[in-house]
Amino acid sequence: MKELSAKFQALFGAPAARIASAAGRVNLLGEHVDYCGGKVLPAALTLTCRAAFRKNGTGICRIAATTLPEAGIVELDLARTEAYRDLPWGNYQAGVAHVMREEGYRLTGCDILYDCNVPFGAGLSSSAAIEVVTAYVLAVAGGNSVDPVALAKLSQRAENEYCGVACGIMDQFAAAKGRAGHAILLDCAALHYEYVPLELKDCVLVLTNSNRPHRLAESVYNDRRRETEEALRLLRSVLPVSRLAEVSPSELDAHKDMLPPILYRRARHVVTECERVTAGAAALKRGDLLAFGKLLNASHISLRDDYEVTGRPLDALAEAAWSSPACLGSRMTGAGFGGCTLSLVRRSGIARFEETLTARYAAEFGHAPAFYLASAGDGITEEEV
Ligand code: GLA
Repeated sequence: MKELSAKFQALFGAPAARIASAAGRVNLLGEHVDYCGGKVLPAALTLTCRAAFRKNGTGICRIAATTLPEAGIVELDLARTEAYRDLPWGNYQAGVAHVMREEGYRLTGCDILYDCNVPFGAGLSSSAAIEVVTAYVLAVAGGNSVDPVALAKLSQRAENEYCGVACGIMDQFAAAKGRAGHAILLDCAALHYEYVPLELKDCVLVLTNSNRPHRLAESVYNDRRRETEEALRLLRSVLPVSRLAEVSPSELDAHKDMLPPILYRRARHVVTECERVTAGAAALKRGDLLAFGKLLNASHISLRDDYEVTGRPLDALAEAAWSSPACLGSRMTGAGFGGCTLSLVRRSGIARFEETLTARYAAEFGHAPAFYLASAGDGITEEEV
């Protein structure tokens, strides 16, 4: 904390007034269902994006990042927020400011130094953490009321409309509303949520980073979203539903002939994944980790075969994890095509688990994956300056 304050002072020539943070997230179950109105089960991570800030008395935000010293200070004129869509760094912040302006928030110029330890491109939602902490900083600096759910929603809008990624609400919600030691069972249609204690007994959640940025992700992500919308449109001619997540697996099967085979498989992933979320939350509540692990595996297989968003690096990591005796279950987490897998592993077997995955992965891809133990942290927080 002292270090961040000192860097802020050196960069902006005045002390930071406050330090806020928002969290990265890992999704335990419920992948690619948030934009179909399903339930998801993410947890905020203790990996966060912190932001030291002060009002600077102008109409301009001056932003910088400890992790990108070469980018220097980027200036965002709050009166011209539409002008920054193509910035290599700073477009997320500009997008948030832009949407806040449209939604009638009072905005004032700030100096902001970001310090993000959520790995970039790892599928752990560093972008949502940046958006949500920016929304929080701008909301408090402008003297607006601060509702974390409203900040999550406007951050999602910024990503959809300003950055062009048609993401759902899961990442921003977890970044804002996470609770230490808990997962969030979130109904993405109604935005009702419940905290589920993450009591993992002798097990831990291991994140394995393929160290492959999820490159194809944005275009395929938007394709999948369109495919699910098309499947819903076709099914609505026979089923009284307004969201794909409302369709049960048996209803889908009864109307299989209405869908082209690809759309049927996309829809089958969504409806079965929704069932896995409900079953997974129940398994966690009764402490049945074996059942939870099996659901992780089934989720990966569905994402691989029906939704086709895993890609070989994530499949290789999951397969290696499945072969490890200490592992109760493993799957890709996040949008897919790169980033991380999530595995439930017995604490006593972590070293062997990591050895197995490293050897198998390096043999196929020529470089090692990275491992993190995931622990569930809080969403938006403030620390003493
Ligand atoms: C990305 C999106 C989320 C969600 C996941 C897949 O992280 O930002 O909204 O759709 O992919 O579950």
